[in-house]
Amino acid sequence: MFINTLSFRKITETPAIPYDLVGAIKALKKELNAVILAHYYQDPDIQDVADYIGDSLELSRRAASTNAEVIVFAGVHFMAETAKILNPDKLVLLPDLKAGCSLADSCPPDEFATFKAAHPGHLVISYINCSAEIKAMSDIICTSSNAVKIVNQIPEDRSIIFGPDRNLGRYVMQQTGREMVIWQGACIVHENFSEKKIVQLKIAHPQAKVLAHPECEPPVLHHADFIGSTSALLKYSHENSSQEFIVATEPGIIHQMQKQEPQKHFIPAPPINNCACNECPFMRLNTLEKLYLAMKNRTPELTLPEHLRIAALRPMQRMLEMS
Ligand code: 13P
Ligand code: SF4
Repeated sequence: MFINTLSFRKITETPAIPYDLVGAIKALKKELNAVILAHYYQDPDIQDVADYIGDSLELSRRAASTNAEVIVFAGVHFMAETAKILNPDKLVLLPDLKAGCSLADSCPPDEFATFKAAHPGHLVISYINCSAEIKAMSDIICTSSNAVKIVNQIPEDRSIIFGPDRNLGRYVMQQTGREMVIWQGACIVHENFSEKKIVQLKIAHPQAKVLAHPECEPPVLHHADFIGSTSALLKYSHENSSQEFIVATEPGIIHQMQKQEPQKHFIPAPPINNCACNECPFMRLNTLEKLYLAMKNRTPELTLPEHLRIAALRPMQRMLEMS
């Protein structure tokens, strides 16, 4: 009798990725005593399997307070690094180690060290979207949700270096009335929204409110009805009575906006070119499959030299105390 061993093998082989991926991830979560933290810019299916979804500050707080033994960070490298800074004894997994951040990359540590040396006596406040090396050179870390609050607590006579995001830095200067020396870094996603297309959308949807992240450039922020961190934008879209919103940040956030307000209409702000470049290419490197494999294989693991972790911890703790 003829047996087609090739097709037989194909049918009986155990698939590397289970069909019930969500069920398998939930089972691994129990087995590992893991917590899944996801940023709003992750794919909707990752957000739906997460224990906590949040902005950078909320996720840092969750990372600082978790009892889980394993932290699976569905976000980008600096976010997982932050979790490791706060949790040296926990296993921190990032589904794709290549999930970096253009803003963090726009601030190389050696160049920042030179910049800092050129401004002696300045207090260094760094946006959390930076590497552990930059954090270690900083006095205080901030996020987009607490940057204004933190700068407002600094004595008037203290000079400040703010990095690495020039748009957030400029916005904080406007809000606080403080002069700061700004590192000229930027995010490729938030600098790509088209002012012209936003204005066209406003004309087509006159009742729509424009929501913008402070990483956007001034011409886009100029048209915003509300500016804030991802969590603040989500809260505003929930509480405001408008039925339409133009959303000038990574469109992953719209998943939660739409879940909270299924009747409201959310329009992603378009990028300058006809591309999908309003999506963060780094955040989107993570997939549900990679998340499963990371948990199954307990790798890729985020590690940090201890001296660097300790140096980066101090300004992180200052942020958590001040916000
Ligand atoms: P939030 O802190 O507002 O979540 O922003 C993180 C981020 O990477 C924005 O691009
Ligand atoms: Fe970095 Fe921009 Fe992506 Fe945020 S959206 S993670 S700042 S590249």
